Amino acid sequence: MRIHKIKVKNREIDYSIFIGSGALSLLGKQIKYTCPQTKKVALILDKNIPGQYKKKVKRALSGYKVYSKEYLPKENLKSFKNAGLLVESLLQKKFNRGDSIVAVGGGIIGDFVGFVSSILKRGINFINIPSTLLSQVDSSVGGKTGVNSKEGKNLIGSFYQPRLVISELAFLKSLPKRELVCGFAEILKYSLIRDKKFFNYLKKNSKKILEERNLKVLKNSITRSCKNKIYFVTRDEKESGKRMLLNFGHTFAHGIEAASNFSRKINHGEAVLIGMLLATRLSVRKRLCSNYTLKEIEKIYKANNLPSSLKKYFLKKDFNKIVDFMRIDKKNYDNKINLILLKKIGKTTNPGDFRISPKQMKEVLKKIN
Ligand SMILES: NC(=O)c1ccc[n+]([C@@H]2O[C@H](COP(=O)([O-])OP(=O)(O)OC[C@H]3O[C@@H](n4cnc5c(N)ncnc54)[C@H](O)[C@@H]3O)[C@@H](O)[C@H]2O)c1
Repeated sequence: MRIHKIKVKNREIDYSIFIGSGALSLLGKQIKYTCPQTKKVALILDKNIPGQYKKKVKRALSGYKVYSKEYLPKENLKSFKNAGLLVESLLQKKFNRGDSIVAVGGGIIGDFVGFVSSILKRGINFINIPSTLLSQVDSSVGGKTGVNSKEGKNLIGSFYQPRLVISELAFLKSLPKRELVCGFAEILKYSLIRDKKFFNYLKKNSKKILEERNLKVLKNSITRSCKNKIYFVTRDEKESGKRMLLNFGHTFAHGIEAASNFSRKINHGEAVLIGMLLATRLSVRKRLCSNYTLKEIEKIYKANNLPSSLKKYFLKKDFNKIVDFMRIDKKNYDNKINLILLKKIGKTTNPGDFRISPKQMKEVLKKIN
């Protein structure tokens, strides 16, 4: 399979994303090319990745002095304390700015290792090898790194770009279906907010992603998603304007996840899927979007049996809790809830255009759930 290369141009550094089956074989050569000063590599791995890929990565790094460490990717790994411990251990091993840290794992490992890379000697080369569909289409692009605080998720962090991203499709073979759905939620989001052609492609090919794990369709969808995300993040690196559109469905999702205490009952992608439908239903009620558009979107949900309603997860009496958490979302700047709504497939409202009071939102949620 031909490996696709996307060049990302940022204010500080440019880097490439390689996407394809076999992309991992480029690792050794690409490190030499992008980080020629590297002598030592800290290899930080997700414990759950199949052994054969761990071996492949280690083989690709055989020319370097490798210090490797594995973590179980639980949300509580993303803590300031754990980041500090890893930084201290790399300092003891005399890692310099010219050396590299390679992360192999999903968004938890990527966010954590990206953050550590950004603070170690004020920034060491960071190479990301995302191994979940979500991390390949979302968290590995855009430079957001971070850890959690007792006060909330991702509240401590930095914007720090990687030197290189390698998205190996073979990783997706062993990924649990629920994790695949998480990535699909973000893929669908990009099509809804900016790319009608891509939406039509997904309408035809969603089963090839979710059931067949067809490599060609996965490669196309990951590439298209990355390009869409790059469009927003390169125009708004520090998230002050257009990048907010990426938040479509996510304010609802944060409320849903928080109201269920971030339990396994509903995961992030499932919450995003429901959140995007709630946002579209609200858009129809506000006459911003046609009912036909809503039905078109719902067809993809039905065809793939994707979560589409709050009722499966919450009692009606708990809906208010969701709104209470939506109100304290870090993207609101006053008492109102700031939402991105849909006008039609490929077009949303602008950031700040639609704001709703928590009281109104509670009333509406009873109707659109
Ligand atoms: N930085 C950003 O812009 C950004 C964007 C979205 C999400 N995030 C963050 O990403 C995290 C979620 O990332 P995620 O969805 O990738 O989850 P994750 O990192 O928790 O991985 C999900 C599960 O899949 C397992 N796994 C990973 N690769 C595997 C493989 N190839 N085969 C089998 N199992 C595998 C992991 O061990 C884990 O159990 C959250 O912490 C979220 O805050 C960050």
